[in-house]
Amino acid sequence: MNFQKTLSDKINEIETIIESFLPEESGFTATVAKAMNYSIRAGGKRLRPMLMQETYRLFGGDEEVIRPFMAAMEMIHTHSLIHDDLPAIDNDDYRRGHLTTHKVFGEAMGILSGDALLNYAYEVMLRAANLTVHTDRVLLAMKVMAEKTGMYGMLGGQTVDVENDGKPLDRALLDYIYENKTSALIEAAMMTGAILAGAEDSEVALIEKAAKNIGIAFQIQDDVLDVISTDEELGKPVHSDEKNHKVTYVTLLGLEAASKEVKRRSDDALLVFESLKGENPFLEELIRSLINRRK
Ligand code: IPE
Ligand code: IPE
Ligand code: MG
Ligand code: MG
Ligand code: MG
Repeated sequence: MNFQKTLSDKINEIETIIESFLPEESGFTATVAKAMNYSIRAGGKRLRPMLMQETYRLFGGDEEVIRPFMAAMEMIHTHSLIHDDLPAIDNDDYRRGHLTTHKVFGEAMGILSGDALLNYAYEVMLRAANLTVHTDRVLLAMKVMAEKTGMYGMLGGQTVDVENDGKPLDRALLDYIYENKTSALIEAAMMTGAILAGAEDSEVALIEKAAKNIGIAFQIQDDVLDVISTDEELGKPVHSDEKNHKVTYVTLLGLEAASKEVKRRSDDALLVFESLKGENPFLEELIRSLINRRK
């Protein structure tokens, strides 16, 4: 079957799973639930739950336990986007082709719905303990998720990123930012997929290494698209980095070298898959497709 068709079928399946875990928009907290669901339902590539599910399949996983983790992953990612777009951070008005959450619901609801999504993700992940006999795997997967999201992961990366707006940065600090603000969640996605399927520690470590490269490549391509794409194609404002006076791989190395780095890191990640026992050709194709992605 052709890759694009398989991809869109898989996105539909993932969206049905995510939808089944969203909070109800009723009672006194209806507004925050609406704000939470608004941004999740706005769309997006669903890349992180997809990487999680495909890594789970790579290691032979076939239980329902992966579903709450997939939904939680997209909730955590969406929380990071809602907060990233706030006036105090990147101050952007569009996301996933729609007005940002704070533009529609106000800044207070932007802050609170982001907080609520982050917490709700853990409420949802805890439900996974009832879906498998391997509760030790659920606990370990939640630990990885918590650490990769927190101050030594995504939130740490976002902190150093905003602190350095307008300041000169060297490659080492830029790599720290990318590894944390972006790779950390991709590592969390793929590592939890592996852990929940019962992969060995050494295999989880290899997946972490591959995911780090996939994440850095993904962020560099995001920076490239911020320069060469359009608002319509991306569904979010281009030139956001220039507006915020950010040093990126593009400003540091130029477009051509930045694109080469995307390819090099992706090829490095693909090498890891050759050394594993199992295989998942779709996952490899997905990683290859990200090298030249346009959105
Ligand atoms: C945007 O992530 C934030 C970055 C780490 C660059 P995505 O490009 O995966 O956003 P969606 O989920 O498709 O909207
Ligand atoms: C943000 O990086 C990464 C996170 C939200 C954690 P960017 O600020 O480049 O993401 P976009 O371009 O707004 O999606
Ligand atoms: Mg940002
Ligand atoms: Mg941003
Ligand atoms: Mg960006």
